[in-house]
Amino acid sequence: MTEFVALDLTGRRTVVVGGGPRSAQRVSVLLAEGALVRVVAPALCEELQAMYAEPASFDWTAREVEPADLDDAWWVAAPDATVAERAAIDGWAAQRRVFVEQQTARVLDQGDLDTLVTESAISLRRMEAGGKVVLVGGGPGADDLITVRGRRELARADVVITDRLAPVGLLRALGSTAEIIDVGKTPHHHPVPQAEINDLLIERARRGDYVVRLKGGDPFLLGRGGEEMLACRAAGVPVEVVPGVTSAFAAPAAADVPVTHRGVAHGVLVISGHDDLDVPTLAAWQQTIVVLMGMGRLRELAVSLVRAGKPGQTPVTVVHRAWTPEQRVVTGDLDTIADRVADAGVGNPSAIVIGDVTRVFDESDDG
Ligand SMILES: C[S@@+](CC[C@H](N)C(=O)[O-])C[C@H]1O[C@@H](n2cnc3c(N)ncnc32)[C@H](O)[C@@H]1O
Repeated sequence: MTEFVALDLTGRRTVVVGGGPRSAQRVSVLLAEGALVRVVAPALCEELQAMYAEPASFDWTAREVEPADLDDAWWVAAPDATVAERAAIDGWAAQRRVFVEQQTARVLDQGDLDTLVTESAISLRRMEAGGKVVLVGGGPGADDLITVRGRRELARADVVITDRLAPVGLLRALGSTAEIIDVGKTPHHHPVPQAEINDLLIERARRGDYVVRLKGGDPFLLGRGGEEMLACRAAGVPVEVVPGVTSAFAAPAAADVPVTHRGVAHGVLVISGHDDLDVPTLAAWQQTIVVLMGMGRLRELAVSLVRAGKPGQTPVTVVHRAWTPEQRVVTGDLDTIADRVADAGVGNPSAIVIGDVTRVFDESDDG
């Protein structure tokens, strides 16, 4: 049995020898893990050049590698190196007690895929014959809020068909190994119609591709994943789903709002603000309400709930772009939230949370 030792590289010096596309993949992954990265290579491939210019997210030593390059390193990778170069690097690393990435390659050779939890570092090409579609929930936006299984599927993909709200930062880690198609945005900024997305999934799977449909949150919660699965099944294309962390619960959590809380709310209703609102039912519901896609109708929703008998002082929290650097939180109540959101200039994508759970941590002594 293979055993793994997890090495936290956050803030630690790592060295990537070589400037090719495989090195670019390693660099993306290491930067995403928070490592300090030095690339030692006489030249950089296009992808590394782009990363170096935006502004430089890693150090570049523009020459062939020398033993002293490993002096302050914790970890070294040389994915583009020849066998002879690797042997030299192994020797220098051993003298300095530096970890070498080649262990990962050995595990892969053994086919021990299930225990490999750092799959994003390596593109695991499709191993089955015939195409397939996997609907992967990408979580609410942060690259590390996708599931381990979702990340593994991404690493296996031949093509990733992605959305505006998916964690697209992760896709950089795939480098040149997978084709990426963004159906959330065309050059004219119009989303691709659902029927065309369905056709694309089916067409690519029929070509034999391992197709990952990467979506924000969970594919089956207001994500049209059910439609995509039905379309694939009707076409006879194998399809499966990998659930994701839904923004309906994760966006409130980002603002320290538990959607249920003992003694405050024992249930939560999640609704789409795009569709017909059953106002009497919502007004009568005494537990938490989470509205997705509701920002365009926030004022109308708040006014109609109050008219239908919900107290105007019912607290409301709006969480915009949760778990991303653009996250913003606006609080108020049914009477005030629409004005506060307008003053703050907050729009889509946001989750609206209605109910006393939004105040749970306001009232706690230790904050
Ligand atoms: C088409 S729905 C998709 C929901 C997705 N399937 C899920 O489970 O999160 C898009 C809506 O989800 C909400 N949403 C998605 N990501 C969000 C985030 N990071 N922060 C706040 N709301 C988000 C917004 O209400 C947005 O309009």
